[in-house]
Amino acid sequence: MQSVGVIGAGQMGAGIAQVSAQAGYAVLLSDVDKARAEAGKAGIAKALARLVDKEKLTAQARDEALANIECVDDVSAMAPCELVIEAATEREAVKRQIFETVGKVLSPNAILASNTSSIPITRLAQASHDPARFMGVHFFNPVPVMGLIELIRGLATSDATVAAVEKFGQSLGKEIVHANDAPGFIVNRVLMPMLNEACFAVGEGVATIPDVDTACKLGLNHPMGPFTLADFIGLDTCLEITRVLFEGTGDPKFRPAPLLIKYVEAGWYGRKTKRGFYDYSGETPVPTR
Ligand code: CAA
Repeated sequence: MQSVGVIGAGQMGAGIAQVSAQAGYAVLLSDVDKARAEAGKAGIAKALARLVDKEKLTAQARDEALANIECVDDVSAMAPCELVIEAATEREAVKRQIFETVGKVLSPNAILASNTSSIPITRLAQASHDPARFMGVHFFNPVPVMGLIELIRGLATSDATVAAVEKFGQSLGKEIVHANDAPGFIVNRVLMPMLNEACFAVGEGVATIPDVDTACKLGLNHPMGPFTLADFIGLDTCLEITRVLFEGTGDPKFRPAPLLIKYVEAGWYGRKTKRGFYDYSGETPVPTR
């Protein structure tokens, strides 16, 4: 495999494009328009420049990686790609539309993969060019730093597709785990109940937001406490995934915490809106309750 298409140049798509380009793949990067794809590439250039400043990457390797990324107008330019990874907005209708459009130009041997964190792979596969060549490939944020990829096979995914995507993931230097197509796969199945429980605890007055964060950071040796992490992921995303767990399993243990719902209803989504469980408008984050 030599050429990879990445659809979506936001945080996840740009990260996937970056690590693929650094591993030597020719990457075609698209978004709703070329300007958005170019903005994603500009962010990658900044991330690579920081690595050069820290002497973790040579200037030559940075230039080579950037030269490996070509921004394209739309997904119809993905025809030459052997693997296309979709990392667009986490909305099923948007993803289905993308799969239908790109499926018309892909070669019959090409593999299409989705970076969805919550939508069932078997269902998404119905909009793909060939469900045997469709699967989930779930990266973690920040993609260049996180060492894991979850691979999720749909009901119709072929062994050859899984093997090819596994080889690709390993070539990026990532550890691969395999999950069945069940709500939340592995990481979010385990993580979201923890973030949700932290919301219940604060909502019930057990402790404050910063004390829960400090407790988990130092008591569990987690790099971030649950509220800092939830803000980092996006509270809208956390709620969406928690609802997928709740509705997908029918198990009340996954019911979303009222506090999480309240913050999302307020439009306080975390870092991306500068306010979530913390306010990020100043120098240092300040708890919002
Ligand atoms: N891109 C590239 N590199 C980055 C980065 C980014 N966005 N953010 C941080 N880094 C690098 C830094 O440059 C630094 O590198 P060096 O050690 O080589 O200097 C290193 O990561 C550590 O960063 P910092 O010192 O700035 O800060 P930190 O020690 O607090 O680490 C963190 C930041 C890596 C994000 C760390 O806090 C962490 O691992 N947090 C947990 C992240 C996590 O759990 N992610 C998964 C979310 S769940 C998900 O993604 C799936 C889903 O479906 C919701």
